[in-house]
Amino acid sequence: MAERPYIVGNWKMNGTRAMLSEARAIDRAAQRYMKAEVAVAPPYTLIHAVHREAEQIGVGAQDVFPGEDGAHTGDISASMIADAGAKFVILGHSERRADHKETNKLINAKIDSALDAGLRIILCCGETLKVREAGEAEEFVLKQLKASLPQIDDAAERLTVAYEPVWAIGTGKTATPKDIEAMHKAIRQLLDETYGEETSAEVRILYGGSVKPDNAREILSIPEVGGALVGGASLSAESFLGIVVAAS
Ligand code: G3H
Repeated sequence: MAERPYIVGNWKMNGTRAMLSEARAIDRAAQRYMKAEVAVAPPYTLIHAVHREAEQIGVGAQDVFPGEDGAHTGDISASMIADAGAKFVILGHSERRADHKETNKLINAKIDSALDAGLRIILCCGETLKVREAGEAEEFVLKQLKASLPQIDDAAERLTVAYEPVWAIGTGKTATPKDIEAMHKAIRQLLDETYGEETSAEVRILYGGSVKPDNAREILSIPEVGGALVGGASLSAESFLGIVVAAS
């Protein structure tokens, strides 16, 4: 099992240069909490600036164009975000699946572009409330993952999975520890089957959905939870560091 919990702040479409002081505070404090691996994914406009502030924490992106550099007005390629200092990219997030109608096919093309550029990926999955209430959450999430888990030899180094029930994102609701554990175990089994147990054991499965300083310790202590993908609570150094401390 990968030993260090991975705490990733997804700033989503938030943040101006004023946020750089928060990034600096997170970075300086993270040096005291070495038990956790800490990273943030700012919007494209801040990747390079946050990268320049970051001595300890990792910096990533929230999306990438599914192809090489070229005539695609307004898009950003994997090599461009890598050049800006990103080391990973979040893909398959439910907000992009919903807002931009991202299909598994498109997500897979983005995964290929990211991996070709040497980036690590955080692959998100998660069910809607309707699917959970229908008792089909596990089947749905495993299907989503089966469609996108990359066939690579170095999954241990380059892949992180994030389970984020859609109905828990930004709502203040979290799944019960029992449900989180059951889903993470099901995901682990799929990773075992896909990559073999030794490699699978190194792939962290993050939980995301209203993780806050006051519930982080409980969530992070659930078996198979290897960290957290944090949205709202990652926007201030104080609350994000509260989660980092809970992981330490
Ligand atoms: O990527 C992060 C997740 O969507 C969780 O967001 O912590 O605001 O619920 P949240």
